[in-house]
Amino acid sequence: APHLLGIEHLHPTEITTLLDLADKYAEDNRKGRAHRNVLEGLTQINMFFENSTRTQASFEIAGKRLGADVMNMAMQASSIKKGETLIDTALTLNAMHPDLLVVRHPNSGAVDLLAQKVNCAVLNAGDGRHEHPTQALLDALTIRRAKGRLHRLSIAICGDVAHSRVARSNIMLLGKMENRVRLVGPPTLLPSGVEEFGVEVFHDMREGLKDVDVVMMLRLQKERMDGGFIPSEREYFHRYGLDAEKLSYAKDDAIVMHPGPMNRGVEIDGTIADDINRSVIQEQVEMGVAVRMAAMDLLAQNLRAKRGAKAAGVMV
Ligand code: CP
Repeated sequence: APHLLGIEHLHPTEITTLLDLADKYAEDNRKGRAHRNVLEGLTQINMFFENSTRTQASFEIAGKRLGADVMNMAMQASSIKKGETLIDTALTLNAMHPDLLVVRHPNSGAVDLLAQKVNCAVLNAGDGRHEHPTQALLDALTIRRAKGRLHRLSIAICGDVAHSRVARSNIMLLGKMENRVRLVGPPTLLPSGVEEFGVEVFHDMREGLKDVDVVMMLRLQKERMDGGFIPSEREYFHRYGLDAEKLSYAKDDAIVMHPGPMNRGVEIDGTIADDINRSVIQEQVEMGVAVRMAAMDLLAQNLRAKRGAKAAGVMV
């Protein structure tokens, strides 16, 4: 595919290819081995219309490790503030001939729309409640490295699934790789009709976590709750926050994940998040750089092949 817009469009073999390459980059990152020739001569623009720590930093580091010229658009200081639309902003940047456009936007579908208007590779860095494909891929790589496989695992995704693009992308990816996915949370925070995706639904944490291999916690996405029901944090932690007692229902070697940013004492107890025997939260961040390197490497290969074919006069 010329873009990375969502997990929805990926075939299991494409997911495996990307994870295999990311695994190599992860090892080379640990050894300090650079690959500055991979994106040499290419321009990467990061456009974040919504706050980010992990995704923006790791896309920038990934681009620089592969030798791209990386530009971070300061969206707060851009002409968006003067009323310029997303599409006009994208067309303006497109006229400067970037090769890779990394976009985060609060509206679901905004990144897909933008991808139709530009002639470079677009990577979705999270759009509304829709998708966050590189997050699901880095989660998959973290699971595969911790468990030695990415199939026939039992994985509980817990908390505010309804507002979470991370959950949506993970449900699709883990399902495509033939895992058993459980969603655990209060009915108000679980989307309706999710059984269609082949997931099991639980409203009780102890039942939902029973014998799972992976516990994936989610933040309460208050910014997407549109003034609707927001649970009290104390009550929420009591019923759905991950603590040692609730975690004891999972398998003894179950790993604990969180995409970040996390709210300690709301969806997860701080001691569990920091327990290096259970929590792989820091590995998730580390794999984020490797997965984004692999995604941009593969898209750049595609881009170069297309440009080469065009230069040779072949229809593409
Ligand atoms: N997990 C994630 O997307 O984090 P940021 O919002 O900090 O990028």
